Amino acid sequence: MGKKSTTGNKNKEKRQARKLEQRRIADGMSFVTSANKLKDLSPLCQDLLVYNNLESMEINMCIQRVTELDKDVLNWAISLTERNMKRLYETCAWGWNKERKVEEMTDDAAWYLIARNNDNILQAFSHFRFDMDFGEPVLYCYEVQIEEGGRRKGLGQRVMQVLERLARATHMRCVRLTALTHNPSAAAFFKACGYSIDETSPAKEYSAHYEILSKYIEPTEDQVPSTDSSNRIELSGS
Ligand SMILES: CC(C)(COP(=O)(O)OP(=O)(O)OC[C@H]1O[C@@H](n2cnc3c(N)ncnc32)[C@H](O)[C@@H]1OP(=O)(O)O)[C@@H](O)C(=O)NCCC(=O)NCCS
Repeated sequence: MGKKSTTGNKNKEKRQARKLEQRRIADGMSFVTSANKLKDLSPLCQDLLVYNNLESMEINMCIQRVTELDKDVLNWAISLTERNMKRLYETCAWGWNKERKVEEMTDDAAWYLIARNNDNILQAFSHFRFDMDFGEPVLYCYEVQIEEGGRRKGLGQRVMQVLERLARATHMRCVRLTALTHNPSAAAFFKACGYSIDETSPAKEYSAHYEILSKYIEPTEDQVPSTDSSNRIELSGS
């Protein structure tokens, strides 16, 4: 009897845990769908979209889906990525494959944060997506790229702050990204921004040339409840 009831309880616990996990994943998927349905992300982070570094730069940022991006802006983003990353890709197992990179950068799921200076000159961008990753809703940062002359002025950090704000406002669990291990300036940058090795990062013996970094996002109290019956994200907590 005693043994039987223990087994029964264990099965019940297992069923409950499975249900909870299914619920967690379903909620995550609904957050991702809601985020991707938003027409305009700027209201979620308006106060961060102007960046004034009094010493040297005045920056205005906008956020667009790749499908709305001006062709010239997209071509500049591709060119900047090639200028910044080609050598790093070539010196690791991935190699540089421009066609594959362009395919990734033009995927319909891509969102772009674009930064221009006061003279309307393009300075930086981030390609990011709202997606399910290892069963969690995440804001995945595919690229953060700054023009050489615009570096070490706090712009990269501001770009990451915008992504983190968007992640919080849309109920993503974290901002996650893939970083090349032989890119020491990026490693120092992400560490300074509070990123650390993610639990999903593969063991070094499987992937010596890259690692997964993340910053977990604590939801604010006023974000709850997160969605209404029509699956619309409440913006009040942004
Ligand atoms: C990595 C990158 C995005 C950083 O952007 P940035 O605007 O220069 O960074 P910030 O000015 O916001 O730096 C914030 C902090 O990060 C750290 N950091 C940034 N760049 C660094 C570098 N080259 N070396 C050491 N630390 C660095 C510093 O602590 C810095 O604070 P500080 O300047 O007060 O010391 C930029 O250098 C870049 O675009 N590099 C080429 C592309 C790339 O590697 N992208 C990342 C992988 S996708």
